[in-house]
Amino acid sequence: MKVPRRVGILTGGGDAPGLNAVIESCVRVLLREGVDVVGIKDGFDGLLKRDVVSLRDPFWGLHAQAGTYLGTSNKSRIEGKEGEFLQAYRSLELDGLIACGGDGTFATLQKFYPGISLIGIPKTIDNDVPGTEISFGFDTACAVVAESADALRFTAQAHRRIFVIETMGRDAGWIALGGALASIADAVLIPERPFRTQELYEFIRKRKEQQRGLIIVVAEGVLKKHNLMAESWARLIESETGWEARHMVLGHLQRSRQPTTTDRFLTISSGVKAAELVLHDTWNKAVVFRQGRMDVVTIEALMGERRLVPEYHPWISQAKSLGMFI
Ligand code: F6P
Repeated sequence: MKVPRRVGILTGGGDAPGLNAVIESCVRVLLREGVDVVGIKDGFDGLLKRDVVSLRDPFWGLHAQAGTYLGTSNKSRIEGKEGEFLQAYRSLELDGLIACGGDGTFATLQKFYPGISLIGIPKTIDNDVPGTEISFGFDTACAVVAESADALRFTAQAHRRIFVIETMGRDAGWIALGGALASIADAVLIPERPFRTQELYEFIRKRKEQQRGLIIVVAEGVLKKHNLMAESWARLIESETGWEARHMVLGHLQRSRQPTTTDRFLTISSGVKAAELVLHDTWNKAVVFRQGRMDVVTIEALMGERRLVPEYHPWISQAKSLGMFI
């Protein structure tokens, strides 16, 4: 077994709280074993431009910060420049590459097999990447939603209003569901569960008789499906129920918060596991979380169908038991 001497690390796609903890933990382990780690700036853009930074200098403490020390890009601008990309990669004289990204990042890198030896770490706050049971950044995003819903409930009650809170989640309702359950919101609308608007309005009218304020958490995927924005949705609810409504789009705040401890456990173990794979000269594998522990799967496992909220997920039955509209 040959121990690699020099590896690269890059972060691709939208940022997720915990990226920095992956970088720091991975670099810490590799440096201790005498492996040089080259940080590639701004995802694929930096690789093309050979814009790299040596991660030999200590930057300890980074793990607690949101964003990514290396920068990222969620556009793959290498279409048609594959030759140039491979040449740039070769010029860095790396024994392999650790990539933290979503399906787009891995689909792009897969084109270069076996030219690039790869270790993948899946990432998305949306929690819908296949192959892993939880992706990092998700817990932090849920915390932002839950804290916001808990806070907005006070002003909603003070003014006898409805609050419509829009969360991220283009295709999957994980963040909306997790955040709504953690704050015991009144209603949660996710793309996986189509609903009749008349039933929602009826639910709201009844609640108007019983309580001062009402919290509706809606995933962006639902609004897209209905061709609505949170504000227009709030207006519609208001006119249908006669209950004054306001809206709040949480947007990128869900990605830009210090990672929770759960996300730190997940990212630190991912970074350590990825470094161990490097030290064992084991490539073209992905580090995932399954059945309560870190596991190693093929890169292809990260690229199947999106992992949506299943019909019988316990969070759905718990929300129903709590009397939430779902
Ligand atoms: O990371 C996925 C996601 O959070 C989606 O839920 C959202 O639609 C998207 O990122 C927005 O990302 P950006 O504004 O960076 O393109």
